[in-house]
Amino acid sequence: MSTFDGLVAVVTGGASGIGLATAHAFAAAGARVAVLDLNPEGLAPSLTGIRADVTDHDSLEAAMAEVVERLGGLDILVNNAGISAIGTVEELPDTEWTRVLDVNVTGMARASAAALPHLRRSAHPAIVNLCSIGALNGLPRRALYNASKGAVLALTYAMATDHIAEGIRVNAVSPGTVFTPFVENFLQKFDDPESERAALDARQATGRMVTPEEVAGAILYLASPDSGSTTGTALEVDGGVTHL
Ligand code: NAI
Repeated sequence: MSTFDGLVAVVTGGASGIGLATAHAFAAAGARVAVLDLNPEGLAPSLTGIRADVTDHDSLEAAMAEVVERLGGLDILVNNAGISAIGTVEELPDTEWTRVLDVNVTGMARASAAALPHLRRSAHPAIVNLCSIGALNGLPRRALYNASKGAVLALTYAMATDHIAEGIRVNAVSPGTVFTPFVENFLQKFDDPESERAALDARQATGRMVTPEEVAGAILYLASPDSGSTTGTALEVDGGVTHL
């Protein structure tokens, strides 16, 4: 794969899980990396942490400007910040729909809008959105989460269409279940987290959950000039759940 020498990558929600693995992978591949997160403390010296909230337009505009000022540009945006929600439509109140869609969907549009003026000045601009296999697969008690990721898929196609004329590619990755703090917290809600974890492992045809590093590898490919003819796609990294 091409190196990312000389390129600047921004990862929203990059202080944990998939985002953190992605930030490290970009840094190892030569990029200068900014992590935009609610809690950007304690990051490795190779990562530049900037406090930002994807539900806050002003904080994103300020953060993107700070990235350009401190790292010298902005070439790649990974829209990774996301939160989970468990429940059927009867179990989830309106307030929860508003909260989760604001982070998972509007947050992605907001961060993209804040980054686009800077991406237009890049020779290799790319956006990668974190979708989920939940966008296309019914899963029990994921009405809101899956609806949010269905919207991410549609948003990815729409943004890819809007921005290809200016050379900006927009793709998504759709992970299956990835073992991160996001999933660990989810498991703690069950009486028997270990048996629930075994059930999550068994759901993949590969017999185990996806690793954050495997998702990061797919993100780096979609952000790299090597995928120059790929835009408006969602790459499944799902242990075979969707098609096997
Ligand atoms: P995580 O919970 O480990 O990390 C999420 C990060 O986002 C945290 O650092 C958190 O502080 C940050 N964040 C949350 N709200 C934010 C906000 N308003 N502004 C800025 N940062 C915020 O999550 P994980 O598992 O790494 O997931 C990352 C993305 O991947 C999410 O979009 C999630 O929906 C998606 N995904 C995760 C899967 C999984 O199985 N873990 C499967 C498919 C998709």
